Amino acid sequence: MGVEAYVIGGYVRDHYLGRPCDDVDIVVVGSGIEVARELGKRLRTKVSVFKTFGTAMLHADGIEVEFVGARKESYSPDSRKPAVEEGTLEDDQLRRDFTINALAWSLNEKDYGELVDPFGGMDDLDDCIIRTPCDPDITFSDDPLRMMRAIRFASQLGFDICDETFEAIQRNAHRISIVSKERIIIELNKIVLSPVPSIGFSLLSNAGLLPLIFPEMERLKGVERRGNNSHKDNFEHTLKVLDNIALKTNDLWLRWAAVVHDIAKPLTKAYDPKLGWTFHGHEALGAKLVPKIFRNMRLPLNEHMKFVQKLVALHLRPIILAEEVTDSAVRRLLFEAGDDIDALMTLCEADITSANDAKVRRFLSNFQLVRQKMHEIEEKDRIRNFQPPVDGELIMKTYGLEPCREVGEIKAAIKDAILDGVIANDYEQAYALMEQLAQEKGLTKITQ
Ligand code: CTP
Repeated sequence: MGVEAYVIGGYVRDHYLGRPCDDVDIVVVGSGIEVARELGKRLRTKVSVFKTFGTAMLHADGIEVEFVGARKESYSPDSRKPAVEEGTLEDDQLRRDFTINALAWSLNEKDYGELVDPFGGMDDLDDCIIRTPCDPDITFSDDPLRMMRAIRFASQLGFDICDETFEAIQRNAHRISIVSKERIIIELNKIVLSPVPSIGFSLLSNAGLLPLIFPEMERLKGVERRGNNSHKDNFEHTLKVLDNIALKTNDLWLRWAAVVHDIAKPLTKAYDPKLGWTFHGHEALGAKLVPKIFRNMRLPLNEHMKFVQKLVALHLRPIILAEEVTDSAVRRLLFEAGDDIDALMTLCEADITSANDAKVRRFLSNFQLVRQKMHEIEEKDRIRNFQPPVDGELIMKTYGLEPCREVGEIKAAIKDAILDGVIANDYEQAYALMEQLAQEKGLTKITQ
């Protein structure tokens, strides 16, 4: 069609980094939409056109290919700026977020496959540097989400943000307020999922972004002292737990459980001259705060949230078990954690961050014991997906009752007796116990 076109951005960057990437961005000096339409015709494939953004998209060989016209103004499709002027390839590269994202390959006959890198993107890739191609104040004012992207790339790729760029983030941090929470959480989740997430969270905090996007986490910072008694910095501790868990799992929600496991510590902190610093009930309060935090941050309010809540609520339990393992405590934990028991154990192991190596080793080996014990008890008693063999329905039917306190009490007593190992997890023994309890309560059977 006689127009210049280039592959640009993430695909080129990821090729040099050896990372998989299955969406290709193509910038056209002219109309991206027209080129996409023509290509769609020749490939006999559907083209989706987004007129307002001046972009078009098609799928080919399982690859998503997006077309956009080169622009002189801000690149961002979410930018509030009304008109975008057509520009040259270099104009377009200059207004992209980072030099490593401004690399382009020519698709033109005269220099097909040649790299076009006017802003030193390859050098920055080699030196592992995040840098904006133009004045960073302009880059970040075009789209303040790029401040989060800089930190996300630093955390994801293990790159450094160059000083000038980072100082601009500090200067412009307050402008994150104009970005939608939905876009922010996408970047934050990528930070949570990065290989060493503490890099991202520390940068967010140093940049002044964390207090704006996740104040509860920023509040974990700080150490208080009374005489010789100080508590650990809960922000540093949380980051260590998150890095620990990142070595074990790529599950976003288990990683989120690590992020928020101690979130209520600042709210429950107290000083007791005998006990020192205490955070009584931080696990229960933390679990209670999870829905509010998820709602504020536009995280889903579904079973993932419930999973995080449950792990926060139970996160101290295995530690207590590691001190003293009894069958009944193991059964109770298996009952409460259900299928999430392995995730809970992973969180608890990650939570052991003492500087004292011997202590850490002792705890971890006790944990091995706990895991073994859990395995044995689960094999024997099938507690994990436990359903009491005698349920409320049966109690009501047997004694002709409507739902009432007695039914609840009998049900709970049967459950406790099984968890405490007083009776086995089977119908005969549970039924016998029901009869005994009912008799004590003066209830008479109406069915056999
Ligand atoms: N881009 C930008 N400013 C943004 C978002 C994107 O300049 N706020 C440009 C960058 O050149 C980027 C390209 O658009 O490389 C594609 O953006 P996107 O697909 O969101 O990100 P990728 O860089 O491909 O990285 P990832 O897939 O990891 O999100």
